[in-house]
Amino acid sequence: MTVEEAIAIVEQLLERGRLTRAQEIVFRYAWEGKTYLEMARTVTYDPGHIKDVGSELWRSLSQALGEKVTKNNLQGVLKRTAQRQQDINTSSTLNFQPFTNYTNWGEAIDVSQFYGRTTELETLSQWIVRDRARVVTLLGMGGMGKTALSVKLAEQLQGEFEYVIWRSLRHAPFFHDKVTECIKIFSHQQVTTLPASPYEQITCLIEYLRKYRCLLILDNFDTLLEQGKGTGCYREGYEPYCELLWRLGETGHQSSILLTSREKPTEVAALEGDGLPVRTLALSGLEVAAGQKILKLKGLSGSEDETRQLVECYGGNPLALKIAATSIRDLHEGNIACFFAEGTTVFQGIGNLLEQQFKRLSTSEQQVMYWLAINRGKLSSTELQTAFTPILPKPKLMSVLESLRWRSLIESNTGGFTQQPVVMEYVTKCLIEQVCKEIVTESSQYLVTYASMQALAKDYIRDSQIHLIVRPILNQLLITLGSADQLEDKLGRLVRKLQKEKPDPQGDEVFRDGGWDKQIRGRRNKADSNSQKQSHPILASPR
Ligand SMILES: Nc1ncnc2c1ncn2[C@@H]1O[C@H](COP(=O)(O)OP(=O)(O)OP(=O)(O)O)[C@@H](O)[C@H]1O
Ligand SMILES: [Mg+2]
Repeated sequence: MTVEEAIAIVEQLLERGRLTRAQEIVFRYAWEGKTYLEMARTVTYDPGHIKDVGSELWRSLSQALGEKVTKNNLQGVLKRTAQRQQDINTSSTLNFQPFTNYTNWGEAIDVSQFYGRTTELETLSQWIVRDRARVVTLLGMGGMGKTALSVKLAEQLQGEFEYVIWRSLRHAPFFHDKVTECIKIFSHQQVTTLPASPYEQITCLIEYLRKYRCLLILDNFDTLLEQGKGTGCYREGYEPYCELLWRLGETGHQSSILLTSREKPTEVAALEGDGLPVRTLALSGLEVAAGQKILKLKGLSGSEDETRQLVECYGGNPLALKIAATSIRDLHEGNIACFFAEGTTVFQGIGNLLEQQFKRLSTSEQQVMYWLAINRGKLSSTELQTAFTPILPKPKLMSVLESLRWRSLIESNTGGFTQQPVVMEYVTKCLIEQVCKEIVTESSQYLVTYASMQALAKDYIRDSQIHLIVRPILNQLLITLGSADQLEDKLGRLVRKLQKEKPDPQGDEVFRDGGWDKQIRGRRNKADSNSQKQSHPILASPR
């Protein structure tokens, strides 16, 4: 910035509209960093007078700018002022010509077959229309119906807005591209280039959101967040979206932004509140009647009881119900009772869905998920702390639990924390695979955790663990290793390794206390006496 540009700004700010001759001299020399004495010597003025002129000038500028201006901070303050003016100028060249009720649905999905969700639709429209919430986040696990609900809501509310724009972030668009796209829409393609800095781009966007009442829906916000780093971290290069959320939540404007996400962005967590303009709705499953309608739509019929059970089994997750309905039709000729008799509710499609979710978790989050699956029932936070204190300190554990809850992978209610049935099955399946891998490679990451956890469990839970975890593991290992002898050798070596690495309190005790030892020995004895009858004796009967 040149001194001439600085003087032009100063003259705009002063009431008089111009600098006096003495003020201009003081300003020019102060800009060069000269002292009052140097100025006085150069222009042969009285140093006291020069100082007075200076003090008066800085006082007037401080008043005009609302911040303290001195000879020393002059350059910094004026550069910031120039930047602010540039932002405003950029905005004022934006094109403001609204359509009435302009809608742009992007890749929004079809919601002509949409059931239930009346309460959620009511709550969301109250927040947006009555309370004028600026940022609303719709949170829920994959397949729960966030996208569908956001489209339905936008359809219902479009009459309330001058602009409705629905955009998916599923393919992680760069911030600049997405903002440009939105501004092009708002300006009817008149504005095609934006300032370079994300800060200024957001300023432009907010200008439109101030000027018009807009509903901007950003679907799949979680795509912008980093996998495996705890909740709310942005992927590299996507940080401007974080700034966007802050400013959309904190700056006054008359529009509403609806986000859908599997995870709660940190800024939303920091800004939200019941009486505040930033709100979150955690989406749970569909009510039974709506779930039953989905099953019917997919051509699956059954008794009232069977369909109810199926909806409950999938926690009312519409995607899971759709996938399950198709699978039941294909594999069991539409017979729900047959499907239940088989006892597996995690089909390929839902497995994929959960796999995506699970992959996003940090190691600590995955461990807590494993522990909850191992425990089978509810665990209070105190029980979790007692069991896992050496591995996860309390504050870390609490933040992991909160993060998992945000991701809708665990539920918390009065009795403590637990997982939806389908989630628990999926996590158990992963655990079994993981433990098998570790035994085969003789490493011990989850195995020790698993075995020590098992040692803590109540009897009835331990039975269920043996039935649902230990036996499938042994079953799988027998197939992989080929014989019970091989398996026992493998486990023996692993136990010795554990003893060496962790002499107390784990090592071989984990196998004994966890019931593994008995399982193997029991099956081996039986195998010896019944070897003619059973191909895999180790698995043949409960302990
Ligand atoms: N209320 C509903 N009635 C009927 N079908 C629904 C309903 N809600 C969702 N669906 C259907 O369930 C499927 C999953 O819904 P949707 O895509 O909205 O889930 P999502 O929560 O956005 O998942 P993701 O986190 O993977 O984006 C879609 O096929 C959708 O049409
Ligand atoms: Mg979605």
